[in-house]
Amino acid sequence: VTDIKAERLLADLQTLAGIGGLANGGVDRVAWSAADVAGRRWFAERISEAGLEPHVDAALNVFGHCPGAVGPFVLTGSHLDSVPNGGRLDGAYGAIAALEVLRTLSEANDPLADRVEIVGFSDEEGVRFSVGLIGSLALCGDLNFERTADLSDSEGTPIDAVLAQAGREFGRLQDAAQHLSALAGFLELHIEQGPRMDAAGISLAVVSGIVGVHRERVRLTGTQNHAGTTPFPLRHDAGRAASRTAAQLRELVEGIDANAVANIGVMRFAPGGVNIVPGEADFTLELRHPDEIIVRRIVQAFEERLRTICDQDGCSAEIELLSWVPPARMDPGMSDITAAACDAVGQQPPRLWSGAGHDAAVLSRHVPTGMIFVPSIGGISHAPSESTADEHLVLGARALLQAVKRAAAQIK
Ligand code: GLV
Ligand code: MN
Ligand code: MN
Repeated sequence: VTDIKAERLLADLQTLAGIGGLANGGVDRVAWSAADVAGRRWFAERISEAGLEPHVDAALNVFGHCPGAVGPFVLTGSHLDSVPNGGRLDGAYGAIAALEVLRTLSEANDPLADRVEIVGFSDEEGVRFSVGLIGSLALCGDLNFERTADLSDSEGTPIDAVLAQAGREFGRLQDAAQHLSALAGFLELHIEQGPRMDAAGISLAVVSGIVGVHRERVRLTGTQNHAGTTPFPLRHDAGRAASRTAAQLRELVEGIDANAVANIGVMRFAPGGVNIVPGEADFTLELRHPDEIIVRRIVQAFEERLRTICDQDGCSAEIELLSWVPPARMDPGMSDITAAACDAVGQQPPRLWSGAGHDAAVLSRHVPTGMIFVPSIGGISHAPSESTADEHLVLGARALLQAVKRAAAQIK
């Protein structure tokens, strides 16, 4: 029987982890950075080396398929970018496993190989511009160009300059969508990034859906003043208002729904000085839940709380929506296929919701989409210590091969 080569899969994961690799074992391949571009070049080279045809689109998504194949394809893969000081498996695992799957089919001269395409998506993480999934949104024609055009990273570099440095023109991003009509389905293999599977001793899971993700930026304005001479009651301290809002967030969210989560991952005070009462503060807020109605309810409660705190601290607040990715359900047919694939490698997978965002959420709005999870040791992710047992990495790739074959066989 055709099977993936476990050592080659693990060796490629190791090599990719060295591109943008950190001494602490983590990786830094933030979207379209020099390391990210180098990782994409490396991935395209592996595609060529396997006798496949690489294609890099307008968003720097890297694709590969058999020479001359035109589709329709079952697309499989994940993203190649990482969060800063991130782990070596988030995204990279699904892309490398996809490569291993197509290499395996091609080496076996399996006729199904012509119906499979692999991908390493761009900027899934959305750390650089606080808006994620840019690669898959561009592929699906779902990117909001007007809003994206105005984005700058935390160093103030506009997105068009970032793309130009990576060899692409912002004005041509929409060209990426020309490829969508060649796709008949999408399968993504990913680490769970949470503690459930590891704790329960589960080796593979079928993803039933992906949480909705709301991201906004809050800007608070108070009055900049002398921190030694201004009595507390006279201060309009934007830093205090921001901190109080952050400190109350968890209880506010827990009071609405026990399955919802929220995060304030960036906070800045301006002008920023040990003896200056902050006149301005800004922070990002992220909220996630599988049900859009719950997300809306939390957003509303948060805004009410923010208003109350601002009134108490004599500050004003402005909210800017950064992005909204609706909750996504995986396709029932694709979920049956992924479940059968797990069964074929000796597992009875449970169905789990994903608390992390994935390119599969975007693709699921356009083509039948399914996902498979492998466990994350201790549930750690978006951190250098992110890890999965080799045995599970190999098992997941074996299941992906089975799923891809089944999905490809169904293409008319
Ligand atoms: C991506 O990993 C996300 O869930 O933010
Ligand atoms: Mn990911
Ligand atoms: Mn991630």
